[in-house]
Amino acid sequence: MRIKDITLAPSGRDKIEWVKSYTPVMGIIEKEFRTAKPFAGKKIAMSIHLEAKTAYLAMILRAGGAEVSVTGCNPLSTQDDVAAALAAEGFEVNAVHGATPEEYTRDLTAALSCCPDLIIDDGGDFIGLLHSSCRAYGKNLIGGCEETTTGIHRLRSREREGKLDYPMIDINDADCKHLFDNRYGTGQSVFDAIMHETNLVIAGKRVVIAGYGWCGKGAAMRAKGLGAIVYVTEVDPVRAIEAVMDGFTVLPMNRAAEIGDIFLTLTGCRDVITKKDMVKMKDGVLLANAGHFDVEINKNDLLSLAEEVTFRKPSVTGYRLSDGRVLNLLAEGRLVNLAAGNGHPAEIMDMSFSLQAKCLEYLATKGFLLEHRVYDVPKEIDREVALLKARALKAEIDVLTPEQIAYLNAAE
Ligand SMILES: NC(=O)c1ccc[n+]([C@@H]2O[C@H](COP(=O)([O-])OP(=O)(O)OC[C@H]3O[C@@H](n4cnc5c(N)ncnc54)[C@H](O)[C@@H]3O)[C@@H](O)[C@H]2O)c1
Repeated sequence: MRIKDITLAPSGRDKIEWVKSYTPVMGIIEKEFRTAKPFAGKKIAMSIHLEAKTAYLAMILRAGGAEVSVTGCNPLSTQDDVAAALAAEGFEVNAVHGATPEEYTRDLTAALSCCPDLIIDDGGDFIGLLHSSCRAYGKNLIGGCEETTTGIHRLRSREREGKLDYPMIDINDADCKHLFDNRYGTGQSVFDAIMHETNLVIAGKRVVIAGYGWCGKGAAMRAKGLGAIVYVTEVDPVRAIEAVMDGFTVLPMNRAAEIGDIFLTLTGCRDVITKKDMVKMKDGVLLANAGHFDVEINKNDLLSLAEEVTFRKPSVTGYRLSDGRVLNLLAEGRLVNLAAGNGHPAEIMDMSFSLQAKCLEYLATKGFLLEHRVYDVPKEIDREVALLKARALKAEIDVLTPEQIAYLNAAE
């Protein structure tokens, strides 16, 4: 067990209770699991942004009979009060906000040391360890679920090289995940964090969105809604066309660098903003990242340009260049909505984490039939979660008649 302070538990408990009120689909699954106990006798290890929604997911898995070991997936996204609340409930928790790289790896290793039957990974760090220093802890592993785009990229590379030793389910690409979590969740929560941390206006600002994938589309949509003038940078011509047709100007980062007031990277790539861009930026710009790793804004470049580094606000570091301009980096370049905010809205994560719970149940019963590959979320699970969520949102849908089904399936 490694947490910051157990006396923080009451605040964490309040946060979890709040989340429970707004996650109806997770509530239904919790009830179902309480009776069916799909994880009886099983151990589950979770590496995930440790905050109230993921804590509730851990509780649901325990309601299903699992022994659950929890750790973070980013040193800055762990909320210490939530970690304390889980520890107070008897969960094995190894996660502290602000962990050093060594502590972070130690925490993940400790979480895996229970030799889990199932894992939840977010970004691929668990899987990395299970294929290297923690190989021995994988002896009981049936398989696991990966939450995010970057983790899927890593898994697919491993699969292509024939170096994936377990079946993994790609939660990210399910309809009920990326269409809502990456798009609406990221869109809202990044601006929530930026506005809260800086107390600055978005309207009238020139906002540069790097990457027009699912996260980028959501962020651009919200920036526009807040009154910003939005620019997009891309490397994919199709995504660039989408951005143009959605009403945004697409240009290379090096040109956007001269124009932007706020820069937000959401690419999953590295070195999206480097020295050659930074030297062109205006005084007072905000630099934020919402991609999984803190490699999108090159922090070494920023440091090498700076004559002085000052901590201006809790999540804002100012880098003063030799001519006096200050470039402000938010949340140390880590994903701003989680490192400087509360992450995605609960109603959105209701879907992502319902998928996680149902896919772990699927793995617990059918995992032994699977090969060492990356699998899509089974269609019936995606649809079940969609139906439950639509019902919870009071979205009433029509039902196809037998004649309509026959028509849609006819060859001619
Ligand atoms: N902050 C969060 O809460 C959160 C939530 C979900 C996903 N993510 C992470 O956000 C990142 C993006 O996820 P996504 O689902 O939008 O991925 P995506 O693959 O849908 O989109 C990424 C886009 O970035 C573009 N791109 C890649 N390299 C680029 C570069 N150098 N310059 C400009 N554009 C570039 C790609 O062409 C693509 O269109 C991933 O790291 C993912 O893990 C974060």
